[in-house]
Amino acid sequence: MIVRHHMGEYPVRFVGTNELNHEGVWLADENVLRLWPALAGHDPIVIPSGETSKSMARYEQVVRTLAHRGAKRNQQLIAVGGGVVGDLVGFVASSYLRGVPFVQVPTTLLSMVDSSVGGKVGIDLPEGKNLVGAFWPPVQVDVATDFLKTLPERHFRNGMAEVWKYAFIEDWSVSEQALRPEANLASLIKRCIEIKSQIVEEDEYDRSGRRAILNFGHSIGHAIETVHNYEDYLHGEAIAIGMVAEARLGERLGLTLAGTADRVAACLTGAGLPTEYGDWQNPGLIEAMRRDKKNDGEGLAFSLVTQLGECKLTTGIAESDVRAFLESL
Ligand SMILES: NC(=O)c1ccc[n+]([C@@H]2O[C@H](COP(=O)([O-])OP(=O)(O)OC[C@H]3O[C@@H](n4cnc5c(N)ncnc54)[C@H](O)[C@@H]3O)[C@@H](O)[C@H]2O)c1
Ligand SMILES: [Zn+2]
Repeated sequence: MIVRHHMGEYPVRFVGTNELNHEGVWLADENVLRLWPALAGHDPIVIPSGETSKSMARYEQVVRTLAHRGAKRNQQLIAVGGGVVGDLVGFVASSYLRGVPFVQVPTTLLSMVDSSVGGKVGIDLPEGKNLVGAFWPPVQVDVATDFLKTLPERHFRNGMAEVWKYAFIEDWSVSEQALRPEANLASLIKRCIEIKSQIVEEDEYDRSGRRAILNFGHSIGHAIETVHNYEDYLHGEAIAIGMVAEARLGERLGLTLAGTADRVAACLTGAGLPTEYGDWQNPGLIEAMRRDKKNDGEGLAFSLVTQLGECKLTTGIAESDVRAFLESL
């Protein structure tokens, strides 16, 4: 599969873990290194696991390690790990020596179907997530689904939330495969990457509203993550709750076909994801939604599913309507 972008294109290959033989500087998640000891042969820079690695401090440590190792502009970086390592190493690649090539080797389901494709890289600030970053596409994405054999169940389900999202926003036929993901995992992941890359190709810089449909469930999901300090819910868990709530909001506004929210909830419950939330009155939710990047001035913006397999960015929804809706849940 080939993904096109403003500076060229890159292949997405499906490979075995034994086919990962890139030249360059390897950087790998510490858990992945422990579970896949053969990777140590590449003398990787070890990235501690967890979101805290998407920090200025870790960024500085990594670029300085590259400088100490004498890494040159023509040497590529190979990022092995989940979305954390991909986002951090991608941002390092975008800026070290004014930009070096990098290869994404995603090892979580979420990073395979979502973060490794699309060219967004970045790190967090204490003021907020992903506040510093770049559009810096990889030169190649190598998906080795074998890595998923060691992925904890909770993180597998986390990635399934984004898989279901593709079914809800763009292609309802994905739902058939998503019901039995183990049956043909590689083909399911491939279909998700196709959907994401097609949407991204149509709106690489997130300007027309097309790319924004990838944000279904994320206005409310991000607000929940923020209120909980990114501690109680994994991203996929928060957006599962968010997708159901936003489908209900869409139904309330007459923008979503009646009955859709119940079907979204049934799919996600079946996938072992949460769909209910106990603190809708929390004023922090609206506050967080106000800072959402999709907002364009008046009111709040939501990417709302109109019916299963179809989604549209809707802006200008009055904050008071959203508050009343949340309080009614
Ligand atoms: N750039 C984008 O477009 C984009 C899109 C979505 C999410 N993201 C970012 O992705 C990050 C989340 O990514 P994630 O869910 O992959 O989390 P992650 O990178 O933190 O990985 C989750 C956990 O799984 C472990 N792990 C990774 N691979 C493993 C394997 N094969 N076996 C066992 N354990 C393994 C990690 O050590 C970690 O503890 C967030 O920072 C989010 O902002 C970016
Ligand atoms: Zn997401």
